[in-house]
Amino acid sequence: MPFILIFLFPMEKTTHSFSYELYNSIDDLAREDAWLLQHAREATRNAYAPYSKFFVGAAARLMNGEIVKGSNQENASYPVGICAERVLLSTASALHPEIPIDTMAVSYDSQTIKTDHPITPCGICRQTFQEYEHRWKHPIRLILSGQSGKVIVLKQASLLLPLSFSAEDMI
Ligand code: THU
Repeated sequence: MPFILIFLFPMEKTTHSFSYELYNSIDDLAREDAWLLQHAREATRNAYAPYSKFFVGAAARLMNGEIVKGSNQENASYPVGICAERVLLSTASALHPEIPIDTMAVSYDSQTIKTDHPITPCGICRQTFQEYEHRWKHPIRLILSGQSGKVIVLKQASLLLPLSFSAEDMI
């Protein structure tokens, strides 16, 4: 019977979905998550973003408890600029190549737009997160927010990149 169905309908529709936690504010987070997000909010002050004036900050807790921070670093040649998330991932990997990141918080600041809704990583950062999750064999939890307002908590960064290309595709 299944064979006949496959013959008659040579295509099936599949759905991909994932769930995440949405908090009303930083005040509703567990203490250590709130602390990390506060550091990400403050790390926006170290951003070098004279072109976009969109200041992004990130703070991560490594599995050994160490905290690493990053911020976006732009360039007059625009494509050369690097997002805060990738600055942080590269820094953590360079300083502590064997220590996985457990959780990363990301926030942003701006003088021209409202900063009360969560930031979500760009496509290149999603691909980069996936690489490090694969390398460290450990999920990277994400805490995403602005300077105020709602907070998204994702248990694994690679959930943001379904049907992705990864090292697994080259084996
Ligand atoms: N940016 C980040 O650092 N992280 C994100 O998640 C989104 C965008 C930076 C890149 C650029 O310096 C500026 O924000 C505007 O796109």
